[in-house]
Amino acid sequence: RIGLPDPHETGRPWVSAHRGYSGAVPENTLAAVDAARAVGVDFIEFDVTRTSDGVPIIIHDDTLERTTDGTGTVEQQTLSELADIDAGSWLGPGFAGARIPTLESMLAGFAEHGGRMLFEFKGLWEPDGVKAVCERIRSAGLDDRVLVQSFNVRTVRNLLSVAPDLPRGLLRSAPRQSDLELLPELEVAAYNPSVQGLLHRPDEMRAIVDTGVGSFVWFVDEQDQWRRLLDFGVSSIITDHPARLQGYLDAV
Ligand code: G3P
Ligand code: CA
Repeated sequence: RIGLPDPHETGRPWVSAHRGYSGAVPENTLAAVDAARAVGVDFIEFDVTRTSDGVPIIIHDDTLERTTDGTGTVEQQTLSELADIDAGSWLGPGFAGARIPTLESMLAGFAEHGGRMLFEFKGLWEPDGVKAVCERIRSAGLDDRVLVQSFNVRTVRNLLSVAPDLPRGLLRSAPRQSDLELLPELEVAAYNPSVQGLLHRPDEMRAIVDTGVGSFVWFVDEQDQWRRLLDFGVSSIITDHPARLQGYLDAV
């Protein structure tokens, strides 16, 4: 349904840019998404959380210090308190003025400029919250260009109940045998472990992908790991350095 060649037939995994082109541009900013789009990646990953007044915004950490010039807990601040915070200078003065994007601005960018979203809901989202977001994805015309995912099983369950038509992914640090029982209930399209987890428990991962689910594996920046994931046959590699990964895939 997402209109891309099947990696299991082509032998070429989809390239997913982690938090945008985060190896070169401040993560989870509109500039990072533009940079990933410019090199023609297959998916652009980003992280969605909420302000204290309930507005979905794009940032990875619970707190502001690492990626902005603000301080404190993201979910305890209103949108207007976050509006003027600089989310670019931490990576270099040339990025000064970048802002924490609202989900609205992110969706508008995808609708206008194209690209596929690997959309991570951070933490627990109750049914009303996921429903509102999924309706916005749909009304922006992006429902056939998204994989929604979360580490939080309840969030994934809520996604199934309010937006069963959107393809879902379950994020895990490492594959778990017990997930063989959970996956049919969640009806996920993809099971998405870390590369370290997959390489540590390949037998568990093999048993899971043999049920027919795809796999977006994060986040992988080393060539020897790319080689091992190609050998395993994953659906997508999530990387901070998508142009490097594309060059590697073109060469092998
Ligand atoms: O999409 C996978 C990856 O982004 C999950 O880890 O911590 O970067 O959100 P994290
Ligand atoms: Ca993420």
